[in-house]
Amino acid sequence: MNIGIDRLSFYTSNYYVDLKTLAEARSVDPDKYYIGIGQEKMGIPPPDEDVVTLAASAAYPLMRDGELDGVELLLFATESGIDQSKAAGIYVHGLLEMSPRCRTVELKQACYSGTAALQLAIGFVARNPGKKALVISSDIARYELGSPGEATQGCGAVAMLVSANPRLVAIEPESGYYTEDVMDFWRPNYRSEALVDGKYSTMVYIHALLESWKQYAELTDRTLTDFDRFCYHIPFTKMAEKAHQKLSRKLKSPIEKAEIAGLLEGSLRYSRITGNCYAGSMYVGLASLLDTDGEDLTNKRIGLYSYGSGCVGEFFSGVVQPGYREVLYADQHRNLLENRTELTYQQYEDIFNYGVPVDGGEYVFPQYKTGPFRFSGISQHKREYESLVD
Ligand code: HMG
Repeated sequence: MNIGIDRLSFYTSNYYVDLKTLAEARSVDPDKYYIGIGQEKMGIPPPDEDVVTLAASAAYPLMRDGELDGVELLLFATESGIDQSKAAGIYVHGLLEMSPRCRTVELKQACYSGTAALQLAIGFVARNPGKKALVISSDIARYELGSPGEATQGCGAVAMLVSANPRLVAIEPESGYYTEDVMDFWRPNYRSEALVDGKYSTMVYIHALLESWKQYAELTDRTLTDFDRFCYHIPFTKMAEKAHQKLSRKLKSPIEKAEIAGLLEGSLRYSRITGNCYAGSMYVGLASLLDTDGEDLTNKRIGLYSYGSGCVGEFFSGVVQPGYREVLYADQHRNLLENRTELTYQQYEDIFNYGVPVDGGEYVFPQYKTGPFRFSGISQHKREYESLVD
């Protein structure tokens, strides 16, 4: 029995900053961002958007299409938790009016948690083949103003329906994974911006890739030529390209730049203009690949590398299913990305500094342009959400 991703819906904020604007404010050559790290825009959430509204908006099309009937497991993966106790997924469960007969839990391991959630969901479906799981990865990547990480900020959520006989991508059973206790990127509970040892993090990302690949290759006897496309965790698009280059060199099959573009470019298009979405990043890449690759990917194998700082890496693979194009949300994704509002530098800095109040006071947030749900305020220490669905 095949198990995997049956539907895949992505959502990001309606606001962005062009990295040329940031480059000017930081007196940096814009090519450092556009070419050096391969990023053009970063998604910025307004004050009434958080990981719950991003997640619920990502999953809304599934609700609208009746795909959430029969979902009995909701896994919410995030680095940007909003509460030490209550799972953010429970707010999403409420906003999406899902059946109470559902297990809901939140998972954390930096950007890796989305893959942990997917693998757990696959185990759930293997045991209960008639049932479905909803996996949502939702994050806001936030670094200090003026820090090297700033240009890699972003935000977004990906909702994936996991089922038997999936219509999009069947996930193959073999996986190579790797855990090591390192401090490359972390965020203590008292901080809203991540701390990162940038250059070191890129080295650990690669090391975990090589180790994960080793186990995957031992289990499958596959080589790089057994894959038609690759989809990497994308903190910035250049990282994915460099990772593939390093892996190819390590396996003594060096690869030309043009060849890398053919294997990876489809997966990088969305991330280049949304920025890092942490737990959702690799799946934003997968949505981008399935939506935008010009070739018919039916029965093609995709290599998937997920990485979460701290760290955990996992290399696994999936096979694209016949008829996949009929169940994509490609038009909706294009429409969202083409109709966002550009922020000036000052607007960006004002939104950044506004943050989320932490003084326990009463707040009503102004209404910005959001998806079908908004974070309307805080009252008596409780977050309040509003559905804008008619
Ligand atoms: P930096 O140190 O300021 O940048 O920030 P740099 O000086 O290394 O320049 C970057 C590249 O631009 C270099 O290319 C330059 O040569 C080039 P490279 O040598 O690397 O090939 N460059 C130019 N190119 C064209 N024209 C120019 C120009 N100027 C320079 N004029 C750094 C880079 C990655 C450190 C920073 O962005 C950062 O700290 N980012 C955050 C951390 C990160 O994303 N790490 C990635 C791996 S860890 C990960 O993926 C996990 C994560 O997603 C979190 C999680 O798991 O939750 C982050």
